Amino acid sequence: MKTAMVDARSDFLGCVAAAVEILNRKEVVALPTETVYGLAGDALEPEAVAKIFEAKERPSFDPLIIHIENKRWLTKLTRPSERVRPVVNRLMNRFWPGPLTILFPKSDLVPDLVTAGLEQVAIRMPSHPVFVQVLRDFGKPLAAPSANRFGRVSPTCAEHVLDELKGRIALILDAGPTVVGLESTIVRVNEDKNKIEILRQGAVSEESLAEIAPTEETFGSSKIEAPGQTASHYAPDKIVHLFGPEAIGPSSHHDALICWGPIRHGQDFSVVRSLSETQDLRVAAQRLFGLLREVDRMDVRRIFIEPVPEVALGKAIMNRIRRAIAPR
Ligand code: TXA
Ligand code: MG
Repeated sequence: MKTAMVDARSDFLGCVAAAVEILNRKEVVALPTETVYGLAGDALEPEAVAKIFEAKERPSFDPLIIHIENKRWLTKLTRPSERVRPVVNRLMNRFWPGPLTILFPKSDLVPDLVTAGLEQVAIRMPSHPVFVQVLRDFGKPLAAPSANRFGRVSPTCAEHVLDELKGRIALILDAGPTVVGLESTIVRVNEDKNKIEILRQGAVSEESLAEIAPTEETFGSSKIEAPGQTASHYAPDKIVHLFGPEAIGPSSHHDALICWGPIRHGQDFSVVRSLSETQDLRVAAQRLFGLLREVDRMDVRRIFIEPVPEVALGKAIMNRIRRAIAPR
């Protein structure tokens, strides 16, 4: 299959129309969201959903997030759960549209393929203007995982999508680099405790969720709540290590360093990049996946990454870094 990449910044409506035409044929299309690029297909058509899994080589036990443009879809896609409604409403009012995914009990309308047979469906309302316009014109919800092959780093620009899925999908809408750079935060409101359980750290920080209701992290538990949350899930091809004086060993001339803060000269690495020279966590989040891809392609032996402070967005950044270094 030939993969076309078109610039949605120069022909917004033409690009949206092309995407909708593909979706109407139950095919898949790569679209920008504010977090990372997604691979979208009609969420209510198992045939389209199956093509998402196929293009990504994603195992069918790993469920997909459904994207909506309008809260009215919730009554169709989910079953009401009165006890959690006040907290869920506050979450939606505060963070939608935006990078927060919420789990709901699913209705029969949602194909089992989307939720991998689970009783809950993950839903988010994205804010990216291109994605929103495609949702509006298509008129139905879209299932969309990150537009990478399974187990690899999420794409934060259209060229990354091309690297990952060239020849497997017909169209990529390019709208430049994504603003957030990390995937959405995934939460569920616990019926008994009325706490916000965090299944995946992401662009919405735990601190800001805690302003709505008490939070609890469940992604560290032994029970796999989000099947995609297996330890190694953001793996570049090269071996990645956490940077620390003892980690490097005798020589680093063939290695790359991704540091936190200003680039310090006099270090023996063949390549040095910074997540953010001014130590801005938002910039680091935007740049992390792109830098990993960039140094992964270079002629270096190992990749070292310096840890960032684990506050606010820093927690999600360190979560992704740890998963890039997890032993494979
Ligand atoms: O920012 C994002 O969330 C991006 C953009 C494209 O929206 N999407 C994304 O999708 O990151 P994906 O499929 O790469 O990651 C979704 C995660 C997976 O780890 C999956 O296991 C989990 O969400 N998930 C989806 N549905 C679930 C469900 N019903 N229960 C538990 N976990 C679920
Ligand atoms: Mg993904």
